Amino acid sequence: MITYNEQTQTFHLKNNKISYILGIEENNYLTHLYFGKKINHYSGNYRYPRTDRSFSPNAPNAVDRLLSLDTLPLEFPGYGYGDFREPAHNIKLANGSRINDFRYESYEIQQGKPQLSGLPALYTNEESEAETLIIQLKDDVSGLKLRLLYSIYQNQSAIIRSSQIVNESQDVVEINRLASQSTDFPNREFELIHLNGTWARERQLTREKVHTGIKVLDSKRGSSSHQQNPFVALVESTTTEFQGEAYGFNLVYSGNHETVIQKDPFNQTRIISGINSFNFGWQLQPNESFQTPEVVMVYSQSGLNDLSQTYHHLFNHHLVRGKYRLQERPTLINNWEATYFDFNEEKIMSIVNEASELGIEMFVLDDGWFGNREDDFTSLGDWFETEGKLACGLVELANQIHDKGMKFGIWFEPEMVSENSELFRAHPDWALAVPNREKSLSRSQYVLDFSRADVRENIYQQMTAIFDRIPIDYVKWDMNRNMTEVYSILLDPTMQGEVAHRYMLGLYEFLEKLTNAYPNILFESCSGGGGRFDAGFLYYMPQTWTSDNTDAVARLKIQYGTSLTYPISSMGAHVSAVPNHQTGRNTSLEIRSNAAMSGVFGYELDLTQLTSNEKTEIKEQVAFYKKHRQLLQFGTFYRLESPFEGNDTAWMFVSEDQSEAMVFYFRVLAEASHPLVTLKLAGLLEDATYQLNDIAVSGDELMNLGFYIDSELHGDYATQRFYLRKI
Ligand code: DGJ
Repeated sequence: MITYNEQTQTFHLKNNKISYILGIEENNYLTHLYFGKKINHYSGNYRYPRTDRSFSPNAPNAVDRLLSLDTLPLEFPGYGYGDFREPAHNIKLANGSRINDFRYESYEIQQGKPQLSGLPALYTNEESEAETLIIQLKDDVSGLKLRLLYSIYQNQSAIIRSSQIVNESQDVVEINRLASQSTDFPNREFELIHLNGTWARERQLTREKVHTGIKVLDSKRGSSSHQQNPFVALVESTTTEFQGEAYGFNLVYSGNHETVIQKDPFNQTRIISGINSFNFGWQLQPNESFQTPEVVMVYSQSGLNDLSQTYHHLFNHHLVRGKYRLQERPTLINNWEATYFDFNEEKIMSIVNEASELGIEMFVLDDGWFGNREDDFTSLGDWFETEGKLACGLVELANQIHDKGMKFGIWFEPEMVSENSELFRAHPDWALAVPNREKSLSRSQYVLDFSRADVRENIYQQMTAIFDRIPIDYVKWDMNRNMTEVYSILLDPTMQGEVAHRYMLGLYEFLEKLTNAYPNILFESCSGGGGRFDAGFLYYMPQTWTSDNTDAVARLKIQYGTSLTYPISSMGAHVSAVPNHQTGRNTSLEIRSNAAMSGVFGYELDLTQLTSNEKTEIKEQVAFYKKHRQLLQFGTFYRLESPFEGNDTAWMFVSEDQSEAMVFYFRVLAEASHPLVTLKLAGLLEDATYQLNDIAVSGDELMNLGFYIDSELHGDYATQRFYLRKI
């Protein structure tokens, strides 16, 4: 899949879908030549035209005025020799200069894909699935080496990139920016799609024109954040769900990140992604190296659905690990919205009993079972069971639940400490804080300094003491504030710019150890809902609580946006009570379940308060979901109608062999004399006949002519679900 053409001095990464081409130019500059649909017969003769542009300095040793780094599409640009665009690296050398001049030195092609030490990364199941190109560049003056890693999988429209600096000099250098990837596109008119929001309104899809200038999309919150997901796409103005070119960039990282998009006056667009360079400063000692997180770059020539499907496949098959990889996930009942902190054994067991009657497979005990945790002002860090709150104790509770044939799950928030906690009283210096400065509380808690091994060890011991005593099948790993006063007292003042990243490395080390030690536990990550829904976490935990907002209408947008890059099997989605606790909206049980079934399905309400009609309905929903969950969790997902564009939302799931499909339609507000709605499906076999309700229809008819949504649909928050089976 990877070749080097000595004559044209080009590297070509190619599979049956894409080509990615790099070139070595005069004086060993490494340039970006192409990323897109595969080119079978690449001549290598096409090069970026040399043009004399006023005020664009000539590269050192250029033989004429035509070569300037200011305009050349570069593979990993730096500042200092005439490229005035955003650099991919910014490294301060011992003499105070930040000018580095990396030139091509050598390359290596490896079978498979290397894992990144201490960082989450895509993997291969068999070495033959992927190949990796490692290009080494060198700055002759400083002695620094820059290594660029590119992996390509067979059959996948993706390139996975990362970079490394190896300090072969005698001096300490300070890395202030090291991007995971930089890509230059000459002469493209792009639109930018990104996922932004806030608590309870995560991953709202924004699409905007890329104008001349610089746009930065980032998080400085110490986590990937509710506000700006580390995924973006560049698309053409004509790109839709089903057509047009799209380039996706998803950083496999859960901390501070940045994506910089710059369009220059020559209509050249540069996109850089990586760890946020803001306040970043990494002291790199001689003979040490620094590895960036990787970024998954996906190309589609046929629209956003195709782009998403590639991400879903890569994440499900090459990122998620462990027992639950590609395994059906259990239906659950979580007690958070049912009881909040106010529960006892009787209350919990009454919910469990109802859940068991309804066919729900797992009970999750949320916040409030430890320390003196009767509200959110206290006890984070004190991971021992509250005596007496559950009269029978946690072990017996878990046993009772297991006796009913159900699984038992429990909530933790390991990275945090309450001001009012035994842990904080014993170790006030374990929280992130700047000496002699006040600390900011958020939800009455501080962030533990997970860059410290002693802090991690304490929490690990506390957690595993619980895991070893109580038979636990599932853990919800929460994180309910962002980082402030980012400072670690164990580190030298010169190293404080490392803390946010060292925190992530510490966290990843912890997650690796814990998930390996307890391979049978299903872990779900959470951060006040979807505040840390990122590919980094998916490496350790196969699913994420998508949002604290359980309102069905709000969920349409949240899940639609999330699905752009994250697989359905990673999205926790629950049916909750009405009026909804976040929005106050009243919706039918039917629409709540149709929205939640389009994810990893569960309930989060007091089941003992249900009417018998509601119980009957829920029992049917649970049975239906269990019957079809392979299709719903792992089927190919197609977005048909966008909630960001109107009143209607529709999406569908198609089984791998295309023999069955499930379609969901949602109409938010009612309208009198509503125009008829036809839904055109996707992903079916053209020549097959499908049973849709009581009629038989061909695949090509369903995909081209479509079918009518019930013209009698009535009332706000209407929904319909269709199951199709090939006959
Ligand atoms: C935030 C989570 O997103 C909720 O689901 C719940 O677990 C609370 N934290 C508990 O404090």
